[in-house]
Amino acid sequence: MDKKALETLLSDMSTEEKVMQLVQIPGSEYEADAEITGVERGQVKESVKRLAGSTLGIWGSKRLKKIQEQYMKEHPHHIPLMFMLDVIHGHKTVLPCPLGQGASFDPEAVRKGAAMQAKEAAADGVHATFSPMADLCRDARWGRIMESTGEDKLLNSRMAAAMVEGYQGEDLKDSAHIAACVKHFAAYGAAEGGRDYNNTELSEHTLREHYLRAYGEAIKKDPVMVMTSFNSINGIPATGNTFLMKKVLREEFGFKGVLISDWGAVGEMINHGYAEDRKDAALKGMMAGVDIDMCSGCYSAHLEELVNSGAVPMKLLDEAVLRVLNMKNELGLFEDPFRGIDTDAGPVISEESRNLAREAAAAGLVLLENKGKALPLRKEKNAFIGPYADTKRLQSSWAFSGDDENTVSLWEAALELYGPEALKTAAGCTMLDQDAVTARGQRHVDHWQEENDRLLTEAVSAAEWADTVILCLGEDSAQSGEATSKASLKLPAVQLRLLSEIKKTGKRIVTLVFTGRPLELMEVRELSDALMICWLPGTEGGHAVLDVISGKRSPSGRLPVSFPYTVGQEPLHYDIYPTGRPKPENGPFEYTSRYLDCENGALYPFGYGLSYTSFEYGGEKLSAQKMSAPESITASVKVRNTGDMRGDVTVQLYIRDVCASRVRPVRELAGFRKISLDPGAEEEVSFVINEEMLRFWTAEEKWESEAGKFLVWICDSSSAGKPLEFRLEGRA
Ligand code: GLC
Repeated sequence: MDKKALETLLSDMSTEEKVMQLVQIPGSEYEADAEITGVERGQVKESVKRLAGSTLGIWGSKRLKKIQEQYMKEHPHHIPLMFMLDVIHGHKTVLPCPLGQGASFDPEAVRKGAAMQAKEAAADGVHATFSPMADLCRDARWGRIMESTGEDKLLNSRMAAAMVEGYQGEDLKDSAHIAACVKHFAAYGAAEGGRDYNNTELSEHTLREHYLRAYGEAIKKDPVMVMTSFNSINGIPATGNTFLMKKVLREEFGFKGVLISDWGAVGEMINHGYAEDRKDAALKGMMAGVDIDMCSGCYSAHLEELVNSGAVPMKLLDEAVLRVLNMKNELGLFEDPFRGIDTDAGPVISEESRNLAREAAAAGLVLLENKGKALPLRKEKNAFIGPYADTKRLQSSWAFSGDDENTVSLWEAALELYGPEALKTAAGCTMLDQDAVTARGQRHVDHWQEENDRLLTEAVSAAEWADTVILCLGEDSAQSGEATSKASLKLPAVQLRLLSEIKKTGKRIVTLVFTGRPLELMEVRELSDALMICWLPGTEGGHAVLDVISGKRSPSGRLPVSFPYTVGQEPLHYDIYPTGRPKPENGPFEYTSRYLDCENGALYPFGYGLSYTSFEYGGEKLSAQKMSAPESITASVKVRNTGDMRGDVTVQLYIRDVCASRVRPVRELAGFRKISLDPGAEEEVSFVINEEMLRFWTAEEKWESEAGKFLVWICDSSSAGKPLEFRLEGRA
């Protein structure tokens, strides 16, 4: 439909019809088994359901086709209904959770993964996903760190932009693609105390220099939607925050698409103490530019009255409705309301999608320890022990449209590779402690102690039989994601008991940790010979882990987030400010910025990861020692594979602005490149440094660079390398 036709349609619509295009209702209004990802507000009135512009949480080609046929028949202008769903790391073929994809440091792989997800979701009738989550997250207590790609603004920017490109492709009318939605705008990951939905207090320079960057970079890829976040920022809820939604999002970022609230967030401005009642909430949401009210019911109950009274200008309503009609038009829904729906096959998990998921999962595995080359596994007796040894629950709580039975467990992959003779498995313990809490509430298991005593005995005997124990531990997948903040980052006590009892057998221990967040791993490190982070690896998780631990391929993942010594260090990140009393490398420490009882830095830092081979960095150099604004400098390094196995290595570029009108981080990631090297091979890796990369939010509140000294590292992690120096010349 062309622009004129859309405007004609808009002019023909009643005020009620216009308002209802801005209303999104839960999929449970259409299908009882819809995925409810918010707080239900009870039955929606029939008059609302008949005209609501979109729904979420349902999928399935046949049933969505039936709903669409019925809806369009009844709609006065036969405007198609939009179906939205959280496809954040997989629809049928589930990829690693986003934090595990961040660990690949491979945006192109992430783009391909998003395209595969879009194809499967579109075949099931889905029009839009609520992804990428571009929230920067420095706090492992916040369970939604699992849905992020970590603590670094550059890595998050590259990953979020890649996901938008993957989901949307070149042309949204191509029914193998779906609309993307950059969320949660903004700074949701900075929730105070790491407690979900909590308020955030951020200076404008921290907001702009760190938290807003990835949203901005993703929006350059023209996502169709942006979603407001639950939190307040500096006292004003995001969903009513005109500075964020008008000045930053619309004016500075130039976003022209649809702004949708998070589930119920319009109405929650009352709880925040920012709106008097639901009518006031609807007013504040509209005045901040929120186009679609997701499931709060405030727009459907009060917006027409607000427009009729003039409190909300008709012009504002028309602009919002036109953006929603544009979205439906970009999707081609007016020409084909059943776009992409494949009522015969629906989405099929193909060998191609499985291979892509297997590759993505393997690329995200991060090897942290490998004492005495405990890995790769030797061809001897191996016992897979632990609650993750033989489970198909290898996907996150957000992969609800994926089916566990399609997942390959570790044990299945091990049997396939090694055969049953030289293998044993034992659960060893329950996943959770007796009264652990998950997102869905308290879990109490009867006879829990007896059950665990039995499981432990069984596991110890399997360990005694084996030469190597592959200990598969971790955080239950229901303990990360939304509303899963935790004040402790320890593994469950019952799992640590299993580890210490297995240690007593004296066998080699390879510990695999499945998790959606950084955990406290000091004890695991002490008692394990090898330690690898497997995240929540998805449908092909078992194959991917066996590909790596068997030595078929070397691990290459790098940490997208810092792992602490203890939760007391959170929020923890590498790009800290120096302070006036930085703790020196080797003391004296008195009266310096430090803890009496813990290191300052991470147990395992951002960007860290081991390989089965070894790499040597040499010949670090800069093409010049000074540059003026229009010029650039090339930083380069030679990387050699000094081991006996091919391996991937992620070369990282960090920069520090040593002195400026505002304090600057001790280093910031400014570039990264993943290369593959055969044994003995060497490659020179270069990065161009230009003036734009040196800009920040200055004391004069301008986005500029400032002349002065800069340090540069080209190295293997955020705590490695020796700095080179150059000067930016320019304004005195
Ligand atoms: C949830 C989440 C958001 C999700 C939305 C729709 O509350 O905060 O990430 O996309 O609702 O399911």
